[in-house]
Amino acid sequence: MAGYLVEDQKKITSTRFTQMKAQGKKIAMLTSYDYTMAQIIDAAGVDSILIGDSASNVMAGNDTTLPITLDQMIYHARSVARGAKRAFVICDMPFGTYQISREDGIRNAVRLMQETGVDCLKLEGGVEIIDTVRGIINAGIPVCGHLGLTPQSVYKFGGFGLRAREEAEANKLLSDAKLLEEAGCCAVVLEKIPAELANKVTAALNIPTIGIGAGNGCDGQVLVGQDMLGMNRGFKPKFLRHFADLYTAITDGVGDYVRAVKDGSFPNADEAY
Ligand code: KIV
Repeated sequence: MAGYLVEDQKKITSTRFTQMKAQGKKIAMLTSYDYTMAQIIDAAGVDSILIGDSASNVMAGNDTTLPITLDQMIYHARSVARGAKRAFVICDMPFGTYQISREDGIRNAVRLMQETGVDCLKLEGGVEIIDTVRGIINAGIPVCGHLGLTPQSVYKFGGFGLRAREEAEANKLLSDAKLLEEAGCCAVVLEKIPAELANKVTAALNIPTIGIGAGNGCDGQVLVGQDMLGMNRGFKPKFLRHFADLYTAITDGVGDYVRAVKDGSFPNADEAY
C-alpha cells in the first residue's frame, strides 16, 4: 500500500497537535529511532513520532533508559526528523540533561532543538521539574509532559510496575498534570496508571493525554514501534498488542536468503552484471 492512510497530509505542528483533542480526533503515536522506520510509519499515517529514550533498551540492549546520552539521542532524533514529513516529532530529553538545574535543562533543550530538527521535547516528572519546563517553554520550545511510570526514575520506584494505585500518588499525578498544562505543555504522556485515573486526568485537561498502559479513555495512544510490530518476543506486558509479527517475517526472509546463498541460487543471472 502506497502513500498516507490519512486524508490530511499537512504537517502536524504543536498547535494542530493540541487542537486534535478539541476536535475529537484520537492521536496515534509510535516511537522510532531511525530514518528508515520514521519514513515508513510517517507514510502509514501516525500523527506523532516519539524518539523515546527507550532507544536505550530497544536499540542498545540496556535494561533501563538511564545510560543513553544526549549525543546519542541527538543522533537518533536527527535521523528520525529527516524521515518524518507529516508527523509531529517529539524527542525525549535523556536522564541527567534536565534534572541538575533549570539553566542546564534549558541549555540542553536548546541544543536538542538546534541540532536535530524535532518539533517538541518530552520530560519526565511534575512539580519537581516545573521551573525547568517553564524555562524551556519560555525559550520557545514546545514541551510534552510524562507522568505515571517515568522510567528514568525506575531505581526510585524499585521497578516498572503500575503507578498511582494509591490515593496520594493519584492526587499528586492529577495535580502535576494540571501544573504541566498551566506551564504551557502541549500534551502529557500517561504511562502505566489505572484507566480510571487516566480518564479523570483526561477530563481535567484541555491538552491531549497520550496513554501507554493507561486504558482507552486517553486522547491518544503511544507504543514502542518494535514492540507493537512483534519484533521483541520476550516482551509482552498486558497493555501491549502485537499488530504484526515481524519477528517471523524477518526470520523467514533471512532464512530464505541464507538457503539461497548456500545452495547457489542467489544471485541468479538477472541479478548479476
Ligand atoms: O521512551 C519511550 O519510548 C517513552 C514511551 C514509552 C512513552 O517514553
